[in-house]
Amino acid sequence: MKKAEIRIKADVPGEPLGDLFGIFFEDLNHAADGGLYAEMVQNRSFEFDPIDHPSYHSLTGWKQVGDASLDVRTGDSVSIKNPHYLHIEAHAEKSGVRNMGFEDGMFLEEGKKYDFSCYARGKALRVALTDENGEILDGADVQLTAEWNFYSCVLSPKKTVHVGSLELTAETYADLDLVSLFPEDIYRGRKNGLRKDLAEALEDLHPRFMRFPGGCLVHDGKLEADARDSLYRWKNTIGDVKDRPARRNNWRYNQTLGLGYYEYFLLCEDIQAKPVPILPAAYDPHHQRMAPLDQLDEWIQETLDLIEFANGDTSTKWGGIRASLGHPAPFHLEYLGVGNEEVGEGFRERFPYFVRAIKEKAPYIKIIGSSGPFCGGREYELGWECARENGADIVDEHFYMPPKWFLANMHRYDSFSEKAPHVFLGEYATMANGGENALTEAAFMTQLQNNAASVKMACYAPLFCNKNYVNWKPDMIWFDNERVCRSVNYEVQKLFMNHQGDELLPVTMTGEKKKPLLRTLEERKSGGIWFWGDESRMAFSKITLQNLDTMQSTEFPDLEVQTDGKAVCLTENGPQNFTLTFCAKELEGYKGFRLFFGAKDEKNRLGWVLGGWENQDGALVEDIDGKCGFLTQNRFQVEKNREYHLTLKVIGNRIEGWIDGELFQSTELAPEEVEPLYVTASLEKESGDVILKAVNLQEEPVLADVLLDGRDQSNEMEIWTLLESSCKEDPDFPGVETAEVTHEKTEKGTLTFPARSVTVLRL
Ligand code: AHR
Repeated sequence: MKKAEIRIKADVPGEPLGDLFGIFFEDLNHAADGGLYAEMVQNRSFEFDPIDHPSYHSLTGWKQVGDASLDVRTGDSVSIKNPHYLHIEAHAEKSGVRNMGFEDGMFLEEGKKYDFSCYARGKALRVALTDENGEILDGADVQLTAEWNFYSCVLSPKKTVHVGSLELTAETYADLDLVSLFPEDIYRGRKNGLRKDLAEALEDLHPRFMRFPGGCLVHDGKLEADARDSLYRWKNTIGDVKDRPARRNNWRYNQTLGLGYYEYFLLCEDIQAKPVPILPAAYDPHHQRMAPLDQLDEWIQETLDLIEFANGDTSTKWGGIRASLGHPAPFHLEYLGVGNEEVGEGFRERFPYFVRAIKEKAPYIKIIGSSGPFCGGREYELGWECARENGADIVDEHFYMPPKWFLANMHRYDSFSEKAPHVFLGEYATMANGGENALTEAAFMTQLQNNAASVKMACYAPLFCNKNYVNWKPDMIWFDNERVCRSVNYEVQKLFMNHQGDELLPVTMTGEKKKPLLRTLEERKSGGIWFWGDESRMAFSKITLQNLDTMQSTEFPDLEVQTDGKAVCLTENGPQNFTLTFCAKELEGYKGFRLFFGAKDEKNRLGWVLGGWENQDGALVEDIDGKCGFLTQNRFQVEKNREYHLTLKVIGNRIEGWIDGELFQSTELAPEEVEPLYVTASLEKESGDVILKAVNLQEEPVLADVLLDGRDQSNEMEIWTLLESSCKEDPDFPGVETAEVTHEKTEKGTLTFPARSVTVLRL
């Protein structure tokens, strides 16, 4: 077998890698409540409401026990911020309620201790942990008084149960509020803290930073801070948990905010990740809500107050509040994001006000702007332009794309400027929890690192998913009540974070040839042309298809697509290079249509979207193996009953969409290639280690000599290997693959980089 040579220049001082690889926490998929936040009682303050989710009511999560009347009341509750409480009238002994936790049953472990607490008033209350048949595993009697008081006790079940509950029965009557149960075995022993196994999964990554608290969670909501479905307002999330107002989480569930900004900062400190909070820009792109420009002060002040809360001296108002919560020392905030994934003028008008104010108050803060949810297109460009013009330090880019897109765009960042604003790849994933995906992500990460002069931060998304509440997949870490499943994508992230290094080292590889493309351009463009209504009824007329190779034109009869989701075929076998001109009119619905071309089947095709999500998109897309990737996007709204004159032009690797005689958007299909080996090298200053990360995406191993220039190489090396062939689906988490990472010591010499593998080498 041929041997390649990998040469690392160990004596060339490289680009600092700084805070390159980190994590992104968002409370979706019940990542916080019912997840990382260790509270075991669901709906602890009886605040659940149909605003959060249509199926919710004030007794969601609770069941009646025995013969009791249950009445959720308001008026004189424990906190005006959470106005509801439960009144129990017991008509027989052992009557009251039972909380089932987040998954129709709590996991309770024999011998472990659980901290129960609640606010209550009334006569006597019996608190118990029970199994699914109501057998009491441990219990305590609490004497109540006529006034609200705080009660607590420790319970320890006599056996392990998987469908346990917390039972509260009244002797005669009792009022209950903020009913809580936390495991005592909690991350770092902190009260109101985090599930140990999940927090440890984060700690094991050694992330350089943590972006939080979202995501769409931050910027989807009403402007009023007191609205239940408000934008994410950080001040609502600190202080006594009883006073943190229950909130609608825009991922359609309830958020207690028990895991709030103070807890986020503590977590960052514990796992030694720099905090990267993202604040709303007084703007909701989902519903086009925006604070008037003359009312931005409140929002800007809130942003400045967060900086003071994190970093201010204890003599300052917000620094003092931080100290009163138990943390006099600052949290060393360095980064701040304004806006999540913003599109539209509304954001770009408001962003400069925030930047000016932050720069004036805290010039050392690195401000993060946004380029929206897509990898390219007009909104993306405008986001960058806005960041540049206003002197933002970093731009948060997001893209979720199929693996083949990542392969085709491996060198995306090679042409990016090394001058600020730099790149923060704040959300990315290859759209599945499988070996192929994780390996592709690893290859892409080598190139993120190689472009450290322009890419300053990157984090995979989303982070957590409770398998019983899936809003979004794939996710890096899956869990249920009992178990944590670290996906193969997690293992890749862990390898890159654990072995990031501090300075980039130049690395070259010689002796291996590029392989043929995965799919040729012809293959990608071959297939049928179809029209499809996106829940809309559409009329198409004056349809002409011109083959640009033969210059032959064909006219087609008018056609209609219905709201039934069925696509209508124009031709089963479209030409490779063509223009398709037609008129389109939306007759019903509001999301416009898609035109598919190069369509082999429903999972592999190119497409032109007009309308789409919230009727906001004009996009050229590619479906690969059933995953849809947006190649370029502009904002576009389809007007009902208006006739649009449209042309789609496909020539070579270029695709153009024309609307009413004007070029609206275009993209170029990048070749899908697999390089011989993706490599990146770095120096870890403290250990002096040279670290090589190499990803082999080929079906054959690569043999290579690894040579260090400018430094002696020791005889022994450490090596970590992740093989795609070791990936297997976790039976408890269908669709999620896990992998083994082996670790060994090896002698200096020719190395084998196994087929389909990630290798980390410490020299
Ligand atoms: O990561 C899931 C979601 O994807 C985030 O909330 C949002 O920013 C993006 O659209």
